[in-house]
Amino acid sequence: MSSGSAPVVAEPVPLFTADQINARIKTLAQEIKSAGLTAEAPILLVSILRGAFVFTADLIRALHLEGLDAEVDFLGLSSYGDGTTSQGRVRLTRDLDTDVAGRTLLVVDDILDSGHTINFVKTLLASRGAEEVKCCVLLDKPSRRKVTVEADFKGFTVPDAFVVGYGMDVAGLGRGLPYIGTMPEATSD
Ligand code: IMP
Ligand code: MG
Repeated sequence: MSSGSAPVVAEPVPLFTADQINARIKTLAQEIKSAGLTAEAPILLVSILRGAFVFTADLIRALHLEGLDAEVDFLGLSSYGDGTTSQGRVRLTRDLDTDVAGRTLLVVDDILDSGHTINFVKTLLASRGAEEVKCCVLLDKPSRRKVTVEADFKGFTVPDAFVVGYGMDVAGLGRGLPYIGTMPEATSD
């Protein structure tokens, strides 16, 4: 992942190239547009920090290119500590600034894993009076699901391996990798 200096994390094994990610996001934006999220106001992207910030930045531009202008706000959530193990708990670390009552929302996250995070977010936003809450994740790891929840839109289905890059981290590092790779030595359990 670096040349000339020691990598900040062990070298990931490439899973999706930057080109593959870009191509998939373009078609995802088309899928979202044709799903016809019928909102009076523009849809609001609810981006889950920190892992989804890179995906959100590319998705909102892909949506714009499809003629769908969206608003964006950020929700900080933490379900993993500094390692790669799920704690099964979700902690709110940063709240939205936007009143979501009556709004059509598209929750944007990097990975749907156990499902605790998306479940927590959907319950939270519904309790605040959102009109409609859809969900878009870049990666889905269905084999890891612990609660029953599915994404309305998903980029890629992936096996049970810990992934890094394109916004996703291992112990806080690796988010700047332009591709997505797996960390063979890491477990996600
Ligand atoms: P869930 O609540 O178990 O579905 O976990 C979702 C969150 O866990 C994601 O938004 C990521 O932040 C994090 N996560 C899950 N799997 C991975 C992974 O393989 N790499 C990096 N982060 C992950
Ligand atoms: Mg996350």
